[in-house]
Amino acid sequence: MLDQPAPLLSHLLARQGIDSLVLESRSRDYIENRVRAGVLEQGTVNLLTEVGLGDRLLKEGIPHHGIEIRFDNQSHRIDFNELTDGKGISIYGQQEVVKDLISARIKEDGKILFEVSDVELMGIESDKPTIKFSHEGEVKQSECDFIAGCDGFHGVSRKSIPEAKRKSFSRDYPFAWLGILVEAAPSSEELIYANSEAGFALHSMRSPTITRNYIQCNPDDSFEDWSNDRIWQALHDRLEIVNDWKLEEGEILEKGITPMRSYVCETMRFGRLFLAGDAAHIVPPTGAKGMNLAISDVNYLSEAISEWYAKGSEDLIKIYPKKCLQQVWRGEHFSWYMTSLLHKFPDSTPFQQRLQRAELEYLFSSSSASKSLAENYVGYRFDQY
Ligand code: PHB
Repeated sequence: MLDQPAPLLSHLLARQGIDSLVLESRSRDYIENRVRAGVLEQGTVNLLTEVGLGDRLLKEGIPHHGIEIRFDNQSHRIDFNELTDGKGISIYGQQEVVKDLISARIKEDGKILFEVSDVELMGIESDKPTIKFSHEGEVKQSECDFIAGCDGFHGVSRKSIPEAKRKSFSRDYPFAWLGILVEAAPSSEELIYANSEAGFALHSMRSPTITRNYIQCNPDDSFEDWSNDRIWQALHDRLEIVNDWKLEEGEILEKGITPMRSYVCETMRFGRLFLAGDAAHIVPPTGAKGMNLAISDVNYLSEAISEWYAKGSEDLIKIYPKKCLQQVWRGEHFSWYMTSLLHKFPDSTPFQQRLQRAELEYLFSSSSASKSLAENYVGYRFDQY
């Protein structure tokens, strides 16, 4: 196995008595501290809790029962409780999930190697695929029954599938997100997504003293283009579009620029190689689906591999891509919808601008439209967990 969300798969397999080796290219310190997205769907929280990973999540995760959407000087609350029969989401940083997973694996003597490089996959169409890699100055090889390629969009796994056999779909967006982590109390109890004249902004949080804010920027912008003053000005202009609401400023602890892309590689299985998470699909972050889809994939994969060891059956292995892709395309659609609804598209025609306004006005006035958004935001599952 390789990289994130590999430790979760390793944990799920260990619960079925199946041995695995996790190879991680970065250091433990890096992956435990890298700031990434932070929304866990209800089903994701349930799954992590059921498999013994819920202790800190239930204590420190912040349950949310709605989000706010701002447009044209108006505010609209999507009430998850009312619209989804009491479901919700939890704000808990991805790196916190990673910390919990790594500590659980290490406590159970799970095999996990950090700072691995020069990874090469061999014999993926055979019954005994092999991974060659370098670790602590030595070249090593590991033979196994299955390889889970959880090595992100730029990893080697997907590229190990011959290009002619890969079926993929993608869409790029003409903007990126600039995100900041700030030492300040959240200015709102719930996340605020704003579609303003000047572009998109999001006010999110990590704890009662740390906020996370994002603004739409140009895809080729760099940090030199965005002084702290310019960032704060953009956040005030884009978020303070309703009366009597002020954004609290604070020390900026971290800055990052995230490209916006939709991508799906439908070839999620090739021989004994299975792709999971960002190695197979990318969503723009507006729908907060990335981590949830990765966890959904490895849950299906652990079931498929467990059934193979328990019964010698390939049934679940064969349908692994189909099961994942049903969830993935739902997440892709929702993420594209939220992105299209809330951003200012530099190339949009007056016709497209009016369509966006028409959709926002419908969302703000129709409980059916709000219900559909709520159902997807908390996590629509074709099966339940
Ligand atoms: C975050 O808190 O990092 C966050 C929240 C909601 C999103 C994306 C990111 O849609």
